[in-house]
Amino acid sequence: MIVLKSEDEIKKMAEACRIVAEVLEGMKKNVSPGITTKELDEIAESYIIAKGARPAFKGYRGYPSTVCASVNEQVVHGIPSVKKLKNGDIISIDVGVHYNGFYGDAAVTLPVGSISKQAQKLLAATENALEAGIGKAVVGNRLSDISSTIQDYVESEGFSVVRTFVGHGIGRDLHEEPQIPNYGRPGEGPKLLEGMTLAIEPMVNAGGWEVNILKDGWTAITKDGSLSAHFEHTVVITNNSQSILTKL
Ligand code: MF3
Ligand code: CO
Repeated sequence: MIVLKSEDEIKKMAEACRIVAEVLEGMKKNVSPGITTKELDEIAESYIIAKGARPAFKGYRGYPSTVCASVNEQVVHGIPSVKKLKNGDIISIDVGVHYNGFYGDAAVTLPVGSISKQAQKLLAATENALEAGIGKAVVGNRLSDISSTIQDYVESEGFSVVRTFVGHGIGRDLHEEPQIPNYGRPGEGPKLLEGMTLAIEPMVNAGGWEVNILKDGWTAITKDGSLSAHFEHTVVITNNSQSILTKL
């Protein structure tokens, strides 16, 4: 069942989402060659705790950290480590927060120092695909209008969308119905309604869409070793549009 949120609930959820946005803003300032993903994780965790909130991913199905930090060919769910970032890397940082009884969830892929033209194009395409998908999150559309718009945009840029992981409803639970694939045909699935809160999150590979999971049980990598990017926002559908809750 898809749970619609009242105005009051959306206000509370917006506060959780604001903390998520602030954490990602802090990550942008701190990502640079030489920093480790563990250090980034500690910065994120201290910030969330100082706000009186809780890191949503830590302990979720045994996940050990506050953020997911996925470097280069890592797609999602990379576990922060003592390995240093280096010039030319790309890093996807995903963060979830629980506050006020509600969850917020968002991700960005950031350049480390100066990155290749191909990597720049991948980041821009993934972010633009998310924006295009969000634009379809309006009353009257169907869920798969979001999915198909993301897929069409990504493929028009010559990249591929990951099938193994999907976006999701979000609210009092981190993962609520519906699942939101980043691929599909338009005009299918549930009708979009005011008060739906969705985490839309395209994962885009420079090569093929297939992924493998590392032996740590979490880290997803591209099967062909190509670069991968991930952007995510938590949004709410309003009466005539949508609002991005994880944007400052
Ligand atoms: N944004 C991802 C999701 O919605 C992050 C989950 S990481 C996990 O599933 F550790 F919590 F699983
Ligand atoms: Co998510």
